[in-house]
Amino acid sequence: MLARSALRNVSRTNRLFSTSAARQQKVTVLGAGGGIGQPLSLLLKLDPYVTSLSLYDIRGAPGVAADVSHVDTGSVVTGYPADKLDEALEGTKVVVIPAGVPRKPGMTRDDLFNTNASIVRDLAAAVGRVAPDAHILVISNPVNSTVPIVSEVLQKAGVYDPRRVFGVTTLDVVRAARFLAEIADSNPQETIVPVVGGHSGPTIVPLLSQLEQGKGLAGEGYDKLVHRIQFGGDEVVKAKDGAGSATLSMAYAGARFANAVLRGLAGEKGIVTPTFVKSPLFEDKGIEYFSSNVELGVNGVEKIHPLGPLSASEEKLLEACLPELKKNIEKGKAFVSQS
Ligand code: NAD
Ligand code: LMR
Repeated sequence: MLARSALRNVSRTNRLFSTSAARQQKVTVLGAGGGIGQPLSLLLKLDPYVTSLSLYDIRGAPGVAADVSHVDTGSVVTGYPADKLDEALEGTKVVVIPAGVPRKPGMTRDDLFNTNASIVRDLAAAVGRVAPDAHILVISNPVNSTVPIVSEVLQKAGVYDPRRVFGVTTLDVVRAARFLAEIADSNPQETIVPVVGGHSGPTIVPLLSQLEQGKGLAGEGYDKLVHRIQFGGDEVVKAKDGAGSATLSMAYAGARFANAVLRGLAGEKGIVTPTFVKSPLFEDKGIEYFSSNVELGVNGVEKIHPLGPLSASEEKLLEACLPELKKNIEKGKAFVSQS
């Protein structure tokens, strides 16, 4: 059971924009013209922790910036065209990356690797060169591989700090809360499911046994819920029927995670949320990155929490997760070493 104060802090990370004494920051979105980028930029314009919002895309960012800049909040918004990546990154403390292609029906996230790996590699190199102290929040899929790509690129550039590179897995947490709350008839904002592992099908491991609303589930009901959480992305891809994948719920999840990082940077204590980071948890099995509850602070990752008690079903899910995750991570690392 989570202690009451820890639960309150986790619950604060579940609200889109909670504030206390905001220390404001420049945030850059790379891929701001896209399906995620546009609503994400709008939500970041509403975030009181953002003082300056820099929007970059190879297409359309100045237009998005002009539009978003009319929203009557305090931050200043600037849009940058394709040839102004370095300017977009200057002085930024947080970079959010939703650049890259989305899935179509029948594709896995790994099928995006051939296109997105080089996009993410090149953007990470620019961040390493222009804003080496920035915290990088990776949304582009396949996250299990793009996070190692970013890390390896920064390592090559001699500016890698594992506390500052995050894979955004918040959408899995959001979906788990929503889907479980539907079954448990609870408030999704108070149905806080730790989702661990990675961000694709079997690598997504919801720890339903760790909360009151989930611990009684068993049998077919449990299996169906786990499947829905693991394959929630496919539900959206199928419904959009060739027009892409989750954008609006992802923008919400991305803005919520960015707010958590910004609050950590501002010195708020007890900001805990799952994210895919360089992690010691399964290093002994050769798995260098893993998503689990992470405490965020002034330097990014402050503390990586252990998984806590797992049910027999969760042990099985974890067993299925690890080899797939290892493969995805190694693929990302190999891509950079061969580049
Ligand atoms: P989209 O095609 O609508 O938008 C992508 C944007 O990236 C486009 O505007 C494009 O011009 C831009 N882009 C391409 N190359 C670029 C580059 N080199 N520099 C800057 N911008 C560039 O796609 P989308 O629906 O916004 O999805 C974006 C990515 O996010 C996909 O890879 C998708 O799979 C992923 N995604 C991740 C999650 C998650 O939970 N982490 C959730 C949903 C989608
Ligand atoms: C999601 O989980 O919605 C994203 O990773 C996009 C996708 O391809 O499903």
